[in-house]
Amino acid sequence: MRTVLVTGAAGFIGSNFVRHVLQTHPDWRVVVLDKLTYAGNLANLADIERQYGAADQGTRATHDTFRYRFVRGDICDRQLVNSLFSGAYSTRHPSPPTHHPLKIDVVVNFAAESHVDRSILDASAFIETNIKGTQVLLEAARQYPVDRFVQISTDEVYGALGEEGVFTEGSPLKPNSPYAASKTAADVLCSAYHKTYGVPVVITRSSNNYGPYQFPEKLVPLMIRNALVGKELPVYGEGKQVRDWLYVEDNCRAIDMVLQRGRTGEVYNIGGDCEKRNIEIVCLICEMLASELKERNEAKDLKRLITYIKDPRGAAHDFRYALGCAKLQTELGWKPKVGLKEGMIGTVRWYLKNQDWVENVITGDYQDYYEKVYGVR
Ligand code: NAD
Ligand code: DAU
Repeated sequence: MRTVLVTGAAGFIGSNFVRHVLQTHPDWRVVVLDKLTYAGNLANLADIERQYGAADQGTRATHDTFRYRFVRGDICDRQLVNSLFSGAYSTRHPSPPTHHPLKIDVVVNFAAESHVDRSILDASAFIETNIKGTQVLLEAARQYPVDRFVQISTDEVYGALGEEGVFTEGSPLKPNSPYAASKTAADVLCSAYHKTYGVPVVITRSSNNYGPYQFPEKLVPLMIRNALVGKELPVYGEGKQVRDWLYVEDNCRAIDMVLQRGRTGEVYNIGGDCEKRNIEIVCLICEMLASELKERNEAKDLKRLITYIKDPRGAAHDFRYALGCAKLQTELGWKPKVGLKEGMIGTVRWYLKNQDWVENVITGDYQDYYEKVYGVR
């Protein structure tokens, strides 16, 4: 059994990744470490807990057979992290109660504060989790060696492009928002730990993911929810910024390949080869929702909800991202499988089917946050 520690897996991409790993690799087990911030929800892992976590509840399951374990905790908590890496953390087995040392073979670090707008309101948590937390994990991996440490990074570390060109892995790092700066610092720390101590780090930098379980503060789920409840669809500025859209399952496949076959010390870009302006994405969502809702709504009615608002990101709003992914393609044979139409209709249907999930993850904090970003005009 290979044991993979996945941090931040109660969030969007991490939960999809855990599902992918457990379905794809019958001989891997996953230990999740997540603080359960506003963005982390156990509901994102509920089906996994039912399917793979149940083994330990029976009397026959042993330390060797459990496939999934959730640990609530902070990646900044050095003591907890060290106890997980050193094997001192108890993987309790109920009958009879026993303590088993747990050897972590691979780390995949998704845990982060991930939303640009929140980093502009207050960067503190971004510095703590994204930088300090990553260093705590790296230090543990140095003291209790692992086979691989995969750092999940972002195309935002490269800064902004104009109308032309793409970022390659060799492009200079020029982050603009506090979020992007914190992710850049983490990447640089990862490279330093690889160079200085030989920690077997690999970094992935992906473009904008979309798909099930994304928190409704991000463009795609926010627009779907607002359209469903008849609220305005707030487009920043003129909606001309360009993002490269990547279906989350394609990203999970790529991360899995990098984890297994990526060269340590290297960076791999993961892009969807799907550049769209924000307004195009919002219009596509309106059209898809209308086609799903049929008699209830027409696309033109939903599009009337589109409201262009003063850009809350100001100068930190990167105009365009585009990723060159030749390295991933030639070295590991990856390319995206799910096109925008297929991925987006699946996503729209998932949100339609899971409106309870959306309403449950939106807490009081969400209303306050919404007011701060969208309320001031
Ligand atoms: P998310 O906000 O949906 O989830 C983040 C998760 O991390 C949550 O479960 C949260 O509880 C957990 N977390 C936060 N602080 C923690 C801490 N101190 N200790 C332990 N857990 C903590 O994020 P996401 O969109 O799934 O992004 C995951 C990773 O991928 C992030 O590192 C992000 O920078 C990166 N990324 C995201 C995208 C994207 O489009 N969403 C694209 C490129 C890279
Ligand atoms: O590029 C990778 C990054 O993609 C990740 O590193 C981040 O974690 C992830 O959040 C995402 O960042 P973005 O800022 O690009 O994603 P977001 O969905 O917040 O916004 C996408 C674009 O849509 C951006 O240009 C801002 C715009 N936008 C966003 C929201 C929430 C709007 O016009 N209106 C909105 O209400």
